[in-house]
Amino acid sequence: TKATFICADGARRDVDVAIGTNLMRAACDHGIDEIIGDCGGALSCATCHVFVEDGYADHLSSMAPSEDQMLDYTAAARQANSRLACQIVMSAATEGIVVRIANPQV
Ligand code: FES
Repeated sequence: TKATFICADGARRDVDVAIGTNLMRAACDHGIDEIIGDCGGALSCATCHVFVEDGYADHLSSMAPSEDQMLDYTAAARQANSRLACQIVMSAATEGIVVRIANPQV
């Protein structure tokens, strides 16, 4: 499946992501270092903060309470479309998702 990351400078990075892989892992695997992912996806760092671009939020699984809580500790202000990339697991439904990387992460 395809996913697109929009970096702080506006550059778009299109990457191939296997179904079942989360977007924090995909960013790290593709050298997109604006996503830090300090805790490895354990929902304890909030350094994988992204904003889900229009139209894609509806395709995501709903947010667990633990993700919701962690989003209160992001370095960049939380917005209505904030998610943690480690909790966005690619599936057929998320094909083509576009996320803007929050800045800063720490
Ligand atoms: Fe730590 Fe996502 S990688 S919360």
